[in-house]
Amino acid sequence: MTEFDLDVHRDPDGITEALVMDVRSGLTAAQKWLPPKWFYDARGSELFEEITALPEYYPTRAEREVLQRESAEIARVTGARTLVELGSGSSEKTRLLLDGLRGHGTLREFVPLDVSETALAEAVEAIRADYPGLEVRGVVGDFTEHLGLLPGEPPRLVVFLGGTIGNFLPAERAKFLRSVRDVLAEGEWLLLGTDLVKDPVVLERAYDDAAGVTAAFNRNVLRVINERLGADFDLTKFVHESYWDAGNEWIEMRLRALEDMTVRIPAANLAVRFTAGEHIRTEVSAKFRPAGVSSELAEAGFELERWWTDSAARFGVSLARARNVGA
Ligand code: SAH
Ligand code: AVI
Repeated sequence: MTEFDLDVHRDPDGITEALVMDVRSGLTAAQKWLPPKWFYDARGSELFEEITALPEYYPTRAEREVLQRESAEIARVTGARTLVELGSGSSEKTRLLLDGLRGHGTLREFVPLDVSETALAEAVEAIRADYPGLEVRGVVGDFTEHLGLLPGEPPRLVVFLGGTIGNFLPAERAKFLRSVRDVLAEGEWLLLGTDLVKDPVVLERAYDDAAGVTAAFNRNVLRVINERLGADFDLTKFVHESYWDAGNEWIEMRLRALEDMTVRIPAANLAVRFTAGEHIRTEVSAKFRPAGVSSELAEAGFELERWWTDSAARFGVSLARARNVGA
C-alpha cells in the first residue's frame, strides 16, 4: 500500500501473533470471547459500511446530523490545525469536520488511524482527491497501542466517532481515554461520539437487522480466524444474537453454537470444544448517559466544553479540552 504512503505499525507476522494471543486467551476462557477489532479485515470493513446504511442502525445517521449542525462551531472553538481520527474507517462523516475546519481556515493536516489497511487506503485516496492541499497522513495501527506515534502540529483535535468508545469494556475505556489525554498537550481537543441508552427493542434491532448484514459482520470474525490461523470454524454452525444487558447497559453480540463440536486452530496450536447452545461474546457496545460521559471525561483529564445530541436524543457528541494535568 505504499502507493498511498501509509505509516504501517503492524507487519503481517505481528498481526497473526496478536490474533493468536487473543484467540488463545478468549477461546480457552470459561465464558468464551473475542475482541471486536478482529471483525475488520477488508470484508468486515465493507460489511460495517453496509451496516451504517441499514434502516435499523440509527447511530451513523444520528451522529451525522450533529456533525452537520455543529461542524462550524467545532472549528470555531478548536481552531484545529491537525485533525486526528481514531478508528477512522471510511472517514465519511469526518468530511463534515474537514469542511468546517477548512472553512474556518486553520486546518493543515488530517491523520486517520485504523487497523483496517484496506478501509484506510481507500479513505486516504478519496480524501486526498477531494481535499487538494490538505496533508493526509494515514496510519495503520491499533489505537490501544500506537497513540504515542501520532504526527501532527498543534492545536490538534482528536476525533473518535461512531460510538466505538462503547466497544471497550469499562476498565479498558478508562485506560484508553487516559492514553488519549497523555498524548495531548493542555488545551488540545477530543471530540467523542457516544450512543445513548434507549428502548432495548430499538437497540436489539439495531444489532440484529432484518437483512442479516450484522449477522454476517459478526460471523466474519470466524472467517478471519479461519483465514489467518488455518482454523476450521463452520460458519453455518453459529447463530448471531444481539442481547441487551440491562445491568451493564450494553448490547452484546454473540455467536451461539448450534451443536457440540471441536474446532481446530492450527496456528494457535489449539482445539476448542463447543457444546450445543454455548456462545462466544464477540462485542460489547456500551450505551451511555450524559452524566456518565462527562464524569468519565473528567476522570481522564478532560474538561467538557460542549455536549450535543441529534434531534431525537439518540446519540451524544462531546467536545472536551485537555485539562492542565493535576488541576
Ligand atoms: N469511525 C467510523 C468507523 C467506525 S467502525 C464511523 O464512525 O463510522 C470502527 C472502526 O474502528 C473500524 O474501521 C475498525 O477497523 C477500527 N478499529 C477497531 N478496533 C481498532 C483498534 N484497536 N485500533 C484501530 N482501529 C480499530
Ligand atoms: C464500531 N462500533 C461503534 C459499532 C457499534 O455499533 O458498536 C460496531 C457494530 N457492531 C454491530 N453493528 C455495528
